[in-house]
Amino acid sequence: MPSNLLVTGGAGFVGANFVHHWARAHPEGSLVVLDALTYAGNLASLGALEGGSRFSFVKGDIKDSELVSSILKEKNIDTIVHFAAESHVDRSIYSPDAFIETNILGTFRLLEAARGVWLKGDGRKHCFHHVSTDEVYGSLNPGDPFFTESNTFSPNSPYSASKAASDHLVRAWHHTYGLEVTTSVSSNNFGPYQYPEKLIPIVIINLLENKPLPIYGDGKQIRDWFFVEDHARGIELVLEKGSGGERYNIGGNNEWANIDIVNLICELMEEAFSVNGKYKNQFPNATSVIKGKAKTLITYVKDRPGHDRRYAIDATKIQQELGYSPRESFETGIRKTVSWYLENEAWWRSVLDGSYKDWMDRNYGVND
Ligand code: NAD
Ligand code: TYD
Repeated sequence: MPSNLLVTGGAGFVGANFVHHWARAHPEGSLVVLDALTYAGNLASLGALEGGSRFSFVKGDIKDSELVSSILKEKNIDTIVHFAAESHVDRSIYSPDAFIETNILGTFRLLEAARGVWLKGDGRKHCFHHVSTDEVYGSLNPGDPFFTESNTFSPNSPYSASKAASDHLVRAWHHTYGLEVTTSVSSNNFGPYQYPEKLIPIVIINLLENKPLPIYGDGKQIRDWFFVEDHARGIELVLEKGSGGERYNIGGNNEWANIDIVNLICELMEEAFSVNGKYKNQFPNATSVIKGKAKTLITYVKDRPGHDRRYAIDATKIQQELGYSPRESFETGIRKTVSWYLENEAWWRSVLDGSYKDWMDRNYGVND
């Protein structure tokens, strides 16, 4: 059983949700978060955990093998859960370097540190869990069967190519050196603490700020959306019951076209404002929502280069072998998400800084 965890990238979106879930579900053992706190990392996402005796945070880079080795030894780590990555496709198109550095070189250095301490050192029982994405499998056409674990890799963006490379490294360190590894592969997550550069939080926040809701191309691209806490539960199950060297798809079988999601969020936001009068005072800028005309903010913009048309994941293996099933439906998850952003304005306001504005201007043109 995993006992002392090192969670890389635990101050990011999925990592923070995993850390909260693990801390609630496992009162025993310890957990160290290692995170470089890039623009996407936010200590406020871990706030409530800080100060707890079982939790510690280290600001540092996964490429720093010496630092990683010392944490593995000093904290008696038996399990690494590896989330740390550059994760945004659009940024990977503008500036791929950081994706190669962190996702490929960073994963390599982490694997080497783990091998040095666990295999050349004390030989303790261990697990390196790698968190991957369905984007490594490429793009599906309408009617194609879902991605299974045995799909060939066909990554199309610098992001997915760098993640595919890291998956290969993890596999090779198991096959060649005998490092105990597992890999989980998830589709698009949504939920609390997601940095507002990804579709769902951008739409929620732009509604509250009465800014355009940018839809790339025709808006009919399909993603298989998955509530982030269900992802955390899936990873937990793989850590507890997964078999060494195996790869597990985790998903909720929930395909939506982008434009349909954006329309739904507009409707949920108008509903939230009409049910709870406090939001009109709290978000006076949200004039289109207040007038019941949220959808007028929908704006079609230039498509993303090389935009993958469809992702859809087959999660039969984890259901049948480990007994996994998601708890949230899409309907309950998206309602919780809209409500979280409405109730946690301080969290998202704190990230709308100069660098966020620079990114929005660069990707969408000036957005004032
Ligand atoms: P994120 O961008 O929100 O967070 C990434 C975190 O990694 C940040 O806290 C950042 O500070 C940290 N980080 C970046 N470079 C680092 C480095 N060199 N050293 C240490 N820390 C570093 O990403 P996310 O959406 O939470 O994704 C986490 C993982 O899950 C990624 O590996 C991603 O590929 C995978 N994943 C994400 C999704 C999704 O929908 N978000 C879906 C499937 C898989
Ligand atoms: P995103 O959340 O960036 O995730 P990914 O590219 O990893 O799937 O994008 C989800 C979908 O939404 C994708 O098809 C691109 C599209 N999209 C928009 O239409 N507008 C936007 O402003 C963003 C960020 C994404």
